Amino acid sequence: MPRLFGLRVLIPTNTPLLAASRGLTLAATVVLAGATALAAPSALAAQAPADHDPDGCSLCHGEVELLRQHVPTLADAERFTVTEEVIAASAHVDESCSSCHSGYTRWPHPDDGQTESCVSCHEEQAELFDLGIHAHPLSTSMEPAACVDCHGTHAVRTLEQLRDTAGIHAMNANCVSCHETQSLALHDPHADSVSCAGCHSPHDTRGVGQATSAIAPMSQAATCGVCHEEAAEAFPLDAHGAALSTSGLRTIPALDSVGYDAAPTCTTCHGGHDMLAVEAPDAIVLHVDGCANCHMVEAERYFGTYHGKATALGSHVVASCDDCHGAHGIYASTSPESWLHEERVIETCATCHEQARPAFVSYDSHPDPMDPDRNGPLFMAFIGMNTLLFGVLIVFGLHTFLWWVRILIDQRRPKADGGHHG
Ligand code: HEC
Ligand code: HEC
Ligand code: HEC
Ligand code: HEC
Ligand code: HEC
Ligand code: HEC
Ligand code: HEC
Ligand code: HEC
Ligand code: HEC
Ligand code: HEC
Ligand code: HEC
Repeated sequence: MPRLFGLRVLIPTNTPLLAASRGLTLAATVVLAGATALAAPSALAAQAPADHDPDGCSLCHGEVELLRQHVPTLADAERFTVTEEVIAASAHVDESCSSCHSGYTRWPHPDDGQTESCVSCHEEQAELFDLGIHAHPLSTSMEPAACVDCHGTHAVRTLEQLRDTAGIHAMNANCVSCHETQSLALHDPHADSVSCAGCHSPHDTRGVGQATSAIAPMSQAATCGVCHEEAAEAFPLDAHGAALSTSGLRTIPALDSVGYDAAPTCTTCHGGHDMLAVEAPDAIVLHVDGCANCHMVEAERYFGTYHGKATALGSHVVASCDDCHGAHGIYASTSPESWLHEERVIETCATCHEQARPAFVSYDSHPDPMDPDRNGPLFMAFIGMNTLLFGVLIVFGLHTFLWWVRILIDQRRPKADGGHHG
């Protein structure tokens, strides 16, 4: 019995060694060991309900010093240390070691011990997982991710625990351990409280450029809408939602490269991993610049007005695009749903201008000083002021030039008295 000596060291000292040396099965040995342990007022016996470990695996696997004598390094011993308390506190509280490991009730452990894979009991998740990029990476530079890379092997959290703050932090740390460059910006309102998988789907994770991704343009309203119901209900119906649904499935345009023909999605306006809370100091300018990327003409005209100039300087009290148009229920001003429809425009302006009356709202929010038909008085004023300005500049410039010529001529002309000064 080559391993007898090992076993002698392994079994707690108060366990009858004879039983093992007579070649009894491990189960019988640990029943004895368990009985002894239960009789003794040890901490282990007091804490551990026996039904999580009927085979007594913890007697060895809970004792790192004992394991250490059978494996090459302390790290191996620590890796092999699995107590029944860990299982009892996990999602697998109703499972025992032997639910997942079969053939290990004998010692020495046989070579053909079997371990159930997660997949064998969780078919639903396994099927979804098999559709995703973690099971089938597109590039060969990264290893596929497995169930245990995200869930761990033994300290598996329940769904409820996965959704509390500690569970979210731990899971996100797992994601970031492989996706090192993808943590959220610190100012992102999701950074501390929201699961990465909330946007990327936990099992059916797809490449962000794939049409099947949870953050593909057509899927964003549903994905973000789990947490942002109001925005997600209003957006698909408005001018942008309508334009998006007619433009069909596309990949997400980067914020700085969209043309007017591209319809925005949630993340075109809000950003991906670097969103800002609406109260953040830079949010208004960011949002206005976002609209301006596509609606260049209206934006340029807006920046010519009091509202636009003050916004560009960082004012939070004047009107930015969404104060007049809304953010997620944007319609053409001629549509009855628009905040700027003639029936509603007074109400919209009156949120800031209590005195708003029909004459007041006839003010042009996007004036074009070059368009005499649209903005006659402004056109006149613009032309008048500029004519005056350029007129003054030209007369002043010409005057200066002639004066300068005059000085040059004066300097070159020989003095009348032959160069002698009185
Ligand atoms: C008598 C002490 C002892 C008991 C009791 C014991 N084991 Fe082990 N087990 C070990 C040691 C030591 C190792 C590491 C060296 C080896 O594999 O022989 C190990 C290794 C293992 C491994 C890893 C095998 C591998 O090669 O990766 C598994 C799985 C395992 N045990 C499961 C169990 C289960 C399940 C039980 C209860 C049914 C159990 N063990 C009971 C001592 C024990
Ligand atoms: C829900 C299933 C499940 C339960 C319950 C479970 N295990 Fe495991 N265990 C696994 C899986 C999966 C692995 C990883 C196997 C692999 O990597 O090939 C594993 C690995 C191990 C290993 C080897 C560790 C390593 O890093 O190689 C040991 C030792 C072990 N388990 C012991 C136990 C003991 C002791 C218990 C009971 C206290 C237990 N397990 C309960 C699923 C389980
Ligand atoms: C022997 C079958 C079995 C194996 C193998 C198994 N599980 Fe489980 N698992 C269960 C049972 C039973 C439950 C509790 C009932 C439920 O919620 O599905 C559970 C629960 C869970 C839960 C929590 C579900 C919830 O709704 O709270 C997660 C997460 C989980 N298992 C992940 C894993 C992972 C990861 C593995 C592989 C390391 C694994 N399971 C292996 C049977 C198993
Ligand atoms: C990329 C990380 C990741 C991988 C890989 C992964 N999961 Fe999950 N899993 C999660 C997250 C995150 C949740 C929580 C989802 C939620 O909050 O709705 C979860 C939830 C679960 C649940 C609870 C029930 C449910 O459907 O929400 C089970 C069971 C589960 N996973 C099993 C598995 C199995 C089995 C595998 C391997 C086939 C696996 N997981 C692979 C991240 C992962
Ligand atoms: C609020 C939703 C949201 C959350 C939360 C989120 N992401 Fe993303 N993620 C996105 C969007 C949208 C993209 C698409 C690219 C972009 O717009 O930045 C993306 C892109 C990615 C990519 C692909 C990047 C590339 O350039 O190829 C990875 C990997 C990724 N995210 C991982 C994570 C991880 C890890 C976390 C958690 C730390 C996380 N994501 C949290 C929305 C989210
Ligand atoms: C064990 C490492 C590992 C873990 C943990 C992991 N991933 Fe991944 N992830 C990968 C690999 C490998 C790919 C495929 C990369 C490829 O094909 O280029 C990937 C791809 C992705 C992609 C698609 C990236 C793209 O370029 O379009 C997203 C999004 C993603 N993972 C999110 C997550 C989230 C969210 C979590 C945590 C819940 C997570 N990952 C956990 C390894 C991991
Ligand atoms: C056309 C650009 C645009 C699109 C598309 C857009 N948003 Fe917004 N969103 C904004 C602006 C601008 C604000 C700031 C409103 C404010 O300051 O009150 C905002 C505010 C928010 C807020 C915080 C305040 C609130 O109204 O709840 C959330 C959450 C939000 N958006 C989520 C979404 C989601 C989810 C989507 C996709 C369904 C989306 N947004 C699409 C521009 C947009
Ligand atoms: C799992 C839930 C969850 C998902 C999914 C999610 N968010 Fe959020 N979001 C939050 C939480 C929590 C906050 C911070 C609390 C708050 O202000 O509402 C937040 C904040 C925000 C804010 C700032 C709101 C404010 O009032 O300042 C915006 C904008 C936003 N999310 C947009 C999005 C977009 C766009 C998506 C989809 C790509 C998305 N979120 C997906 C939970 C989520
Ligand atoms: C990615 C480009 C893009 C962004 C960003 C964007 N829009 Fe649009 N917008 C469009 C498209 C495309 C349409 C629909 C085509 C059309 O009707 O002219 C549209 C339609 C509109 C309409 C209705 C126009 C009409 O004549 O029917 C208004 C008003 C509008 N957007 C305002 C805004 C505001 C305000 C913002 C910022 C909060 C914004 N847009 C952000 C592309 C964009
Ligand atoms: C003070 C309120 C106000 C602000 C601020 C404002 N607009 Fe407008 N916008 C209007 C009104 C009123 C109309 C309709 C009459 C017109 O065409 O000028 C309009 C028209 C438009 C139109 C033409 C489609 C339509 O609905 O008639 C677009 C596109 C537009 N605005 C985009 C923007 C963008 C982008 C910004 C920010 C850069 C912005 N607006 C800021 C009030 C505003
Ligand atoms: C979010 C608040 C807000 C909204 C909504 C708003 N404004 Fe203003 N507006 C201001 C502030 C603040 C000023 C600065 C002067 C003041 O306090 O009256 C201003 C200034 C003005 C001025 C005087 C500056 C100038 O260019 O001569 C006019 C006219 C004006 N707004 C028209 C409108 C009209 C018309 C609407 C509706 C289509 C509107 N505003 C919507 C906040 C707003």
